[in-house]
Amino acid sequence: MIIRNAKFYLGGRVVKKDILIEKGKIAGFGKFKGEAMDAEGLFALPGLIDPHVHLRDPGMTHKEDFETGTRAALAGGCTTVLDMPNTRPPCTSLSEYRKKKEIAKRKALCDYGLHFGASGSNIQGVKKARPRSLKLYMGESTGRMHAGNMLTLWRHFSNFPKNRPLIVHAEDQETLAAMKKEGRGRPEAAEKIGVEKARILAQEADRVIYFAHTTLFETVHLAKIWKKSLIEVSPHHLFLSREKDGKRLKEFSKVYPPLRSEGERRELWGALYHVDAVGSDHAPHTPAEKRKGAAGFPGLETSLSLFLDAYNRGEVELPWIIDRMAESPARIFGLKSKGRIDKGYDGDITLVDLKEEWKVKADEFASKCGWTPYEGFRLKGKVKKVVLRGKLAADESGVTGKTKGKNVL
Ligand code: DOR
Ligand code: ZN
Repeated sequence: MIIRNAKFYLGGRVVKKDILIEKGKIAGFGKFKGEAMDAEGLFALPGLIDPHVHLRDPGMTHKEDFETGTRAALAGGCTTVLDMPNTRPPCTSLSEYRKKKEIAKRKALCDYGLHFGASGSNIQGVKKARPRSLKLYMGESTGRMHAGNMLTLWRHFSNFPKNRPLIVHAEDQETLAAMKKEGRGRPEAAEKIGVEKARILAQEADRVIYFAHTTLFETVHLAKIWKKSLIEVSPHHLFLSREKDGKRLKEFSKVYPPLRSEGERRELWGALYHVDAVGSDHAPHTPAEKRKGAAGFPGLETSLSLFLDAYNRGEVELPWIIDRMAESPARIFGLKSKGRIDKGYDGDITLVDLKEEWKVKADEFASKCGWTPYEGFRLKGKVKKVVLRGKLAADESGVTGKTKGKNVL
């Protein structure tokens, strides 16, 4: 495949060249003869890697499944997704891990990896499965798989291989339970105490820790006291706030960790350069389930455009977006052939029109859940074409359905 006249970053500078992809790998840059995909006027980003999605398969496929979820990923410019283990049954044993891999292999249209889950009783199960990453919920959340007591936490922190990312949802269970009794909902204190606890344990165990969806300037800095802490942020905590969007979204505004105040949302932008990765935390639920209190937002089809829109307003630079949404997740999760437009890397390319404006409409989305917290938003910056290992995966008329994902984790 030849992608003609794309602009992209090469060696730290913006260039305009053709990109040649052979046998699924980027083979060269320059001027090439032959039939080509026209990318005149478009910017090429490395295919994005979303390290935090909930594709709900198996067990909750009325919300999403590996096909619709990876369609949503491709539509949003992601060529690789890493799926969370709070499926049903949870991915906390070798047998469930194997079953889930089979499902993903059969249905996925983009590349994928599966995070294994830590439970209150699977220290040996984790050892047997030897996953590349482990997700641990310190507090109660969708799927009820929290492993929040100190002994369980410590055993996972000290047993899981030290250089592999231990992904922590750091809302402290004891704080959540106490505050619930006091009628104080799900306060920031739960995140602050959770992050401190996890940071101290990571330090004690001398291990890498990856803080999922950090929401506060303060917790970013608390986490970073430890040099092996990695920070993820999710778009909804940067683009939505309790005051600004809570009223509009009503019961649809529920998400864990919760939307924060407008002041805290702005402060989080001030911590952007301490952030290591963006994870959409794509957590689809049906509208009926949202009305009954389900927590979580879909995010795959809006994540990149929200950041491109912010780029157009001068709030973030393009190299930050490329690094935190592709290169850095690849580095963190050990995806050696992913995340860069460079010779020898997988031919995963997301072509965007940086200036095109579009209006967010959930009924045009590929996700099965049928709603978005960004309904009606006008965003500047749009995904135009997506290439997965040299094959056209999506264009203006939608996801082609002709690609097949492979396991990369
Ligand atoms: O809001 C959330 N939804 N937070 C989580 O931690 C889990 C997620 C889900 O799976 O629905
Ligand atoms: Zn999540």
